[in-house]
Amino acid sequence: MNLNTLTTTAQALMAPGKGLLAMDESTGTCNARFAALGIPETVEARRAYRELLVTTPGLGAGISGAILFDETIRQRTAAGVLFMEILQQAGIIPGIKVDLGAHELAGFPGEQVTEGLDGLRPRLAEYAALGARFAKWRAVLTIGHDRPSRAGIAANAHALARYAALCQAAGLVPIVEPEVLLTGPHALARCAAVTEDVLHEVFAQLRTQGVALEGILLKPSMVLAGADCPKQPTTAQVADATVACLLRTVPAAVPGVAFLSGGQSPEQATRHLAAMHRRFAGRLPWSLTFSFGRALQQPALEIWGGAAANVPAAQQALLERVRSNAAAVIEARVS
Ligand code: 13P
Repeated sequence: MNLNTLTTTAQALMAPGKGLLAMDESTGTCNARFAALGIPETVEARRAYRELLVTTPGLGAGISGAILFDETIRQRTAAGVLFMEILQQAGIIPGIKVDLGAHELAGFPGEQVTEGLDGLRPRLAEYAALGARFAKWRAVLTIGHDRPSRAGIAANAHALARYAALCQAAGLVPIVEPEVLLTGPHALARCAAVTEDVLHEVFAQLRTQGVALEGILLKPSMVLAGADCPKQPTTAQVADATVACLLRTVPAAVPGVAFLSGGQSPEQATRHLAAMHRRFAGRLPWSLTFSFGRALQQPALEIWGGAAANVPAAQQALLERVRSNAAAVIEARVS
């Protein structure tokens, strides 16, 4: 493992005023989003949509890295240029989702564990050879009456740490993504307690597996009340709860935290990120930025709707979300 290469990549991904574009939806997830808008669920439609994203003019001004999916890393524009090349020319570091999705956790109904460790080493070597410089693995934890269980937290944290160690051995920066889902009626305090438990276990496992914290990025969910909770917190309460949770669990050696949006509206996700920066600027040991999927893409996807004529307007919508989030993280650095 070359720690210098890893830390350089991690720091470049956390470049001031920039964040990451998560465009690594699996075929199933991408198709489901297309189906909801009446867009054909075909390889060509997915290719055309990803071309729209990567060819957005000026994307590199606010995006440091883009997370691709296995299908996408090999795809080309209609003019025959690899997406990987387009990204590199725009100064955007390409990365790749390497987990194989969340599956039922045996013995714990309603809980999931992310699979994909078997055969991961050669897959990472192939992605590195294709030009990927970082990777992503998402663990999914659901809040319920007696969930997540110790078993669910431990299994997911262990898999994240094994993945991270394999990535570092392959020269790829692992993005460690434990997502506590927004679904449910739970209050903010419950999400805070669960997220704290999960992050403690993740960092314990990372240590056990010998992962160099300087060469990872954390991609957590924000601490939120469940989507069905009747008492929704203020923006400031979310910012304070999220930062408190991170301060208790994330070692200072970690260079950066890049949040997922997790089903928040685009504006809400940006407001929460901006509030964290406003309220804690200069007082945090790591940088905070965005690694949003839906909160960056959804307006663009809706405008595009599968029609080539809508590409320029959709690209403008993507740029607008990128600029708003970049502004949210720049604010902190100047105050
Ligand atoms: P969302 O921002 O849509 O939650 O997606 C981020 C991501 O990478 C999920 O794995």
